[in-house]
Amino acid sequence: MLHDVERKLFDEATIFRRLDVMAHEITQRYRGLELTVVVVLNGSLIFAADLLRRIELPLKLECIRAASYYGGTASSGLVDFPAGALPDIAGRHVLIVDDILDTGRTLHALCQWLKASGGPLSIDICVLLAKTKARAEEVTATYVGFEVGDEFVVGYGLDFREQYRNLPFIGTLRDEVIAAGERDARQD
Ligand code: XMP
Repeated sequence: MLHDVERKLFDEATIFRRLDVMAHEITQRYRGLELTVVVVLNGSLIFAADLLRRIELPLKLECIRAASYYGGTASSGLVDFPAGALPDIAGRHVLIVDDILDTGRTLHALCQWLKASGGPLSIDICVLLAKTKARAEEVTATYVGFEVGDEFVVGYGLDFREQYRNLPFIGTLRDEVIAAGERDARQD
């Protein structure tokens, strides 16, 4: 797995230092409020586990699944949420926790979906990473761990064809690895 990595962008110690700061800001913002954290699986699993344990507040946790990449490195443009999975967020302040803000399609669709459910008092977004690029959909994340360029990143929960999620750091893959994965995906 390590041989496939081209460049490490953020190691575990750097991620944890940033999480301490983000969790402190979130704790200050939601003190005294009814907070529900909506975690977008699978990519946010590790980030959310580490972030939530640093938030010093009572909170409810909801997990939802969203898929838009279907194994490649480019958004399919379609975002799916499983029917019947809408969390009960009426009268709650909602903080969405996602791994990465890229085209913005996933978070835009999720916000619309949650708003349509009726009743949240507020919806804010927290992402581990935000790509510095123009978005297909207008989305603002209130809490951003790190900005990254417009390149495909893996590790610390983020995958390429369901691999690399368990790398303890965030990095990029070698071009040959991505090319081989995309060739395999076309044959599947
Ligand atoms: P959008 O484009 O809707 O992307 O903002 C949202 C979801 O797509 C996945 N994604 C990535 N996954 N490396 C990954 O491993 C990336 O560079 C990347 N860019 C987008 C991710 O699941 C995100 O929630």
